[in-house]
Amino acid sequence: MKKLYVAMVGLPARGKSTLARRIQSGLEQQGVHTAIFNNGDTRRRLFGVASAKADFFDPANETACRNRRNIARLTMEAARLWLASKGDVAIIDATHSARSQRQDLMDYLNDFPVMFIECQTRDMELLDDFIRRKAQLPEFAGMTAAAALRSFRERIAHYVSGYSPLKDEPCWIRTDVTDCRILAEAPSSAIPYYSAIRSIITSRWVNNLYLVRHGETEYNLQNRIGGDPALSPEGFRQAKLLARYFRGVSIPYIFTSTRLRSVQTASPLLEDRPIGTGISLEDFDELHAGICEGMSYEDIKRTMPQEYAARTRDKYHYTYPGGESYAMLQERVARGLRRALFTAGEGALMIIGHQAINRTILSLFLAHRPEDIPYLHVPQNQLYHITITQGKKLFEMIRYA
Ligand code: F6P
Repeated sequence: MKKLYVAMVGLPARGKSTLARRIQSGLEQQGVHTAIFNNGDTRRRLFGVASAKADFFDPANETACRNRRNIARLTMEAARLWLASKGDVAIIDATHSARSQRQDLMDYLNDFPVMFIECQTRDMELLDDFIRRKAQLPEFAGMTAAAALRSFRERIAHYVSGYSPLKDEPCWIRTDVTDCRILAEAPSSAIPYYSAIRSIITSRWVNNLYLVRHGETEYNLQNRIGGDPALSPEGFRQAKLLARYFRGVSIPYIFTSTRLRSVQTASPLLEDRPIGTGISLEDFDELHAGICEGMSYEDIKRTMPQEYAARTRDKYHYTYPGGESYAMLQERVARGLRRALFTAGEGALMIIGHQAINRTILSLFLAHRPEDIPYLHVPQNQLYHITITQGKKLFEMIRYA
């Protein structure tokens, strides 16, 4: 087997560790022995929580700089020993933000080729959210929430001051992990596993997504659309059964829309789960029916027959006056899904959405003709369980009520 060092590059909170784990798991599936060597782990082991403070990352702090250089050396040394024995690919998970650091790495690890992977995030809202979440990690436990966030932002600012994107390094890929997209690359035929790694980066990665539609609502009973109705008694029963079905199952993140019916469906599930598990995203709010919000399909047919007919003719492109079409949903739902998947990392997640939203999410996974999307089956007592990783593709429907 050929051997390779993969060095991650990027500011904190850009998804380096998430991607490193994906690459490890994807390569392992192909029989390539891969291990991750994380600089942060070395730092925390040697210097503990004191090293979470921003001054540890200040380029003007000479002692800290020396300590950080030593940490980097120890991490690299562990990677080198592993490749020298049984390993095929050693991933060094660190910021490697300055060109000089990357040169050090190439000088030190000169026994096998090095490939760099730079992670950037173009979704600023998602980045902000992710920074807030990272500021809650155990290494900030000794600080108040506000101090932790301040300190983490200061740390990032120190990195920004010395940051230089990849440019002249011999082989690299720049990616937006939240989008599974390659932004730029400098390939090299001398690098083993390049195309395997490239394909892992661009593959959508979903590990146990439970896609649920909210329970039955008062509006559903009257065949009315949109609005912000509460669950019906049957809807509350379905929500309880959903919680019972998932009792004891770890789901670190449960995403809802901002609508009452979605939040109420999540409520029994969230009761005995840690704070922070539930996140409401507007991206998952139901298709907006404009002037038809709150009306029944019969009312629309009777009072606006031409609108009704236009929607029947082309349901995918039809836009409610003052509202949305299925075609318009694609972008915002894809953004919500991107956010949810990135936030969940490798963990399981649930999305409690709506009929049109869940149809759109399904269409992002299954290659459907656009005109078929508005007719996908999204019942209120069954859910979709989806896993798509390098080695596994699973798409199953589960009845829970
Ligand atoms: O009826 C429930 C509902 O979620 C409405 O709020 C929404 O307008 C509708 O489903 C979407 O389904 P369709 O596109 O089939 O009308």
